[in-house]
Amino acid sequence: MKSRTPKESYAISTHLVLPNETNLLGNLMGGRLLYWMDITAAIAAHRHCQRVVVTASVNHVSFERAIKLGDYVTIEAKVSRAFNTSMEVFLDVTVEAGLTADKVKSNDASYVFVAIDQVGRPIEVPQLVPETDLEKERYDTALKRRQLSLLLSGKISPESVPELRDLFMGKQK
Ligand SMILES: CC(C)(COP(=O)(O)OP(=O)(O)OC[C@H]1O[C@@H](n2cnc3c(N)ncnc32)[C@H](O)[C@@H]1OP(=O)(O)O)[C@@H](O)C(=O)NCCC(=O)NCCS
Repeated sequence: MKSRTPKESYAISTHLVLPNETNLLGNLMGGRLLYWMDITAAIAAHRHCQRVVVTASVNHVSFERAIKLGDYVTIEAKVSRAFNTSMEVFLDVTVEAGLTADKVKSNDASYVFVAIDQVGRPIEVPQLVPETDLEKERYDTALKRRQLSLLLSGKISPESVPELRDLFMGKQK
């Protein structure tokens, strides 16, 4: 299977924050942002493997600043690492203030998608070859995020990841 580069999976979406997407303070609801990120990330994952993909895990999302009614939210997504049947997609979110047009980084996030066949069985995906320094950094750190995600979802035990074991079981003598 031919390997691919992150830029081949690149996906971008821009959204205007409307009144029915905000809370009582006029800030974008976190769940709506997660939904937009999920769709943009799914497009990137699909571009990488050309298969039906499903969200397996939302691994890291932080809401560092409030996004206001009338702002434009831009979400950029690229596959950061492919494993066997799963892919990590890394997202960068920027916000453009509706009134001033100032653009600021809002947050980033990583999602995991699994490619599946016609009966919902996980199926192999192409490997990813990172090109830029940032892509290489995200590729390297994706392994730790995967171990943590699998640990938190109960798919692997703390004993199988010595680097993370102490976090969950206390320091071993
Ligand atoms: C995701 C899904 C296909 C995994 O199926 P499964 O039978 O558990 O398959 P496996 O345990 O073999 O895992 C398949 C891959 O997913 C990865 N994976 C599964 N859960 C994961 C998690 N929480 N975090 C990171 N990776 C995960 C596994 O590591 C494996 O990756 P690899 O093949 O690259 O090594 C299955 O659980 C599913 O269909 N879930 C529902 C998906 C969905 O509907 N999403 C929308 C939610 S509303």
